[in-house]
Amino acid sequence: MEEGQAALHPAVQPLAFLLGSWRGQGEGSYPPTISPFRYSEELQFSHNPNKPVISYSQKTWKLNSGEPMHAESGYWRPKLDGTIEVVIAQSTGLVEVQKGAYDAKGNVMLRSTMIGNASKVKEITRHFKVENGELSYVVEMSTNVMSLQEHLRASLAKI
Ligand code: HEM
Repeated sequence: MEEGQAALHPAVQPLAFLLGSWRGQGEGSYPPTISPFRYSEELQFSHNPNKPVISYSQKTWKLNSGEPMHAESGYWRPKLDGTIEVVIAQSTGLVEVQKGAYDAKGNVMLRSTMIGNASKVKEITRHFKVENGELSYVVEMSTNVMSLQEHLRASLAKI
């Protein structure tokens, strides 16, 4: 079983609200260097009930032309104590280790503890929220010249 409907690993059960495929749109920016841009996005969270892990993959496209943009994939490792660690490999070559917490209200809050193979990025935070059938997130980052500020926000619906 890939996307656990009936059986879920106990560690994954509290994050069942993430599982499945999501599609939506987002907007990015990073003033003053990066002007606002819009993108479409698909996210997939899948699960094998034998493992305490959620597999994650993301793809984005330019909203108007459909040209591929950023993509990434990784593994979300929730613990029963409400903490979670996430590893992500980005299509740009950057890798990140994120640690944080989730709650019963559909929030997952992550902050990087390790960033690798990055030319500018120092820190990344990711806040996800699932509410009323909608998944939304905000990604912030700091670079060698800018302190932590928003780069991405998006809103997706289950497909
Ligand atoms: C620019 C990092 C996700 C689209 C940048 C820059 C960095 C960066 C460091 C250059 C900023 C500057 O020079 O001031 C990241 C990180 C991401 C991420 C760490 C994930 C955590 C995305 C996604 C998209 C995207 C999902 C598209 C949907 C862009 C675009 C630019 C940009 C269009 C400006 C042009 C360019 O440099 O390619 N990003 N990015 N980024 N990012 Fe991201």
